[in-house]
Amino acid sequence: MTHAVPTSFVVFGVTGDLAHRKLIPALFDAVADTNDHDVRLIGVSSQPVGAAGVQEIVRKSLADRGNRGSTVARFVERSTHALVSRDSDTLDDLGRQLREIEGPGPNNRVFYLAIPPGPAASISTMIGKARLLDAGGWGRIVLEKPFGRDLASATALNELLHEYFSETQIYRMDHYLGKEAVQNLLTFRFANPLFESTWNRDRIESVDIRVAEDIGVGERAGYYEKSGAVRDMIQNHLTQLTTLVGMEAPSSFTAEAIRDSKVRVLESVRTVATRDVVYGQYASASINGELVPGYLDEPDVDPGSKTPTFVHIRLAIDNWRWQGVPFYLTTGKRLHERSSAIVVTYRPAPVCIFHGREDDCPIGRNTVTLRIQPHEGFDVGFSVKDPDPEMQVVSKPLSFDYSDAFKDIPDAYRTLVTDILEGDQTLFVRGDEVEASWRVYEDVLEPAAAPLPYPAGSSGPKLS
Ligand SMILES: NC(=O)c1ccc[n+]([C@@H]2O[C@H](COP(=O)([O-])OP(=O)(O)OC[C@H]3O[C@@H](n4cnc5c(N)ncnc54)[C@H](OP(=O)(O)O)[C@@H]3O)[C@@H](O)[C@H]2O)c1
Repeated sequence: MTHAVPTSFVVFGVTGDLAHRKLIPALFDAVADTNDHDVRLIGVSSQPVGAAGVQEIVRKSLADRGNRGSTVARFVERSTHALVSRDSDTLDDLGRQLREIEGPGPNNRVFYLAIPPGPAASISTMIGKARLLDAGGWGRIVLEKPFGRDLASATALNELLHEYFSETQIYRMDHYLGKEAVQNLLTFRFANPLFESTWNRDRIESVDIRVAEDIGVGERAGYYEKSGAVRDMIQNHLTQLTTLVGMEAPSSFTAEAIRDSKVRVLESVRTVATRDVVYGQYASASINGELVPGYLDEPDVDPGSKTPTFVHIRLAIDNWRWQGVPFYLTTGKRLHERSSAIVVTYRPAPVCIFHGREDDCPIGRNTVTLRIQPHEGFDVGFSVKDPDPEMQVVSKPLSFDYSDAFKDIPDAYRTLVTDILEGDQTLFVRGDEVEASWRVYEDVLEPAAAPLPYPAGSSGPKLS
């Protein structure tokens, strides 16, 4: 079925990194093989690159899709450009350019702000004032993370957006939510009573949520110096994972019911105190024989910077399901590996019958490890008897790998772009949800003292 009303996918920041690496390929994949969306990319920039410049960007972004030549060519050909001035305080002229490109008749419009967070508020205001979402069809605006830099700024940004747009028009991105293994958390929990009936304080001892990066700050120090690990990773990605592990079953599989449940668990998370946080900062070390700089030696980093590149937080959830079960959130840059996983550790067997002494019990804990990247899938850790004549108990995993079971795992951005076009907000962060998550970290966004140094390529500072 072809949609009667065509859609303009308007990308602010079309000349930037996100547009090139993620957004343009995702849009192409979302629309190229379907007749459901008549979508045209309109790249907005302050550089006068023109339609030819945007088409060149699109062509380069889709270089690895060469086997789909004619589809790529059509997509490139339809892509075009709109020029804005950074000095102007209105986008009225953008409205005129869009009407010219679209021609007569109604249009749907998506405004995707793939720009640094600083100008996002003023550009949203200008889009709202110029009523650019209203072109006779539906209108949606998409904002990238970070959404605000603390509770006050996120609340102010929400208030500003709500002056011009309804919540159903606002799509707050957290690309982790588009990852297949993250979406599968809901299925894993609520389609498998096997696990759900044990998913509580009676059976579970702790939950570890870890997102490790092996790269350093690279070229992003300008942004990262003002952000640090709590703002950059914990408040969004790791907190989203926390809500999906911790939430109650929603009343239905709808965007509002799911997001209601996520907000409810966030409301039960105790505001984190300084004593529950360990901050770290990577120091120069040799990785595979090559000396890599420490954070303080990276370009554009203040040599006295206290910006944490690693953080380990203990969260407490004060509700009936989770009271007394610590959720440990850990993330860092320049660690020994790139991986994201959630490890749920069960309480030990109540009695150890295999050895005489309780403190020498060979039975490992049951664990559920949900692997988000790389190697999406999960492992359930069991104790089994080693077929040795002597009674030996060892831990072994029962494993599931997405790549064994399914052929294509869509990229997170492709999933999210499809949802934007379909008007499905399930995987986007609602306004009250983003505020509830900032509230949790209000007192620990920055360390009071210098973070603990850890060698680049290690697993972070020693945690006592
Ligand atoms: N890059 C990623 O992998 C990634 C991943 C997740 C989230 N994000 C988020 O996505 C957003 C964009 O990231 P990015 O890496 O693409 O950024 P970027 O490359 O630094 O900038 C994107 C574009 O934004 C425009 N721009 C820069 N300053 C501006 C200003 N003051 N006013 C208006 N436009 C301005 C520029 O386009 P013109 O000069 O042509 O106007 C620039 O090419 C950020 O919020 C970032 O946090 C990025």
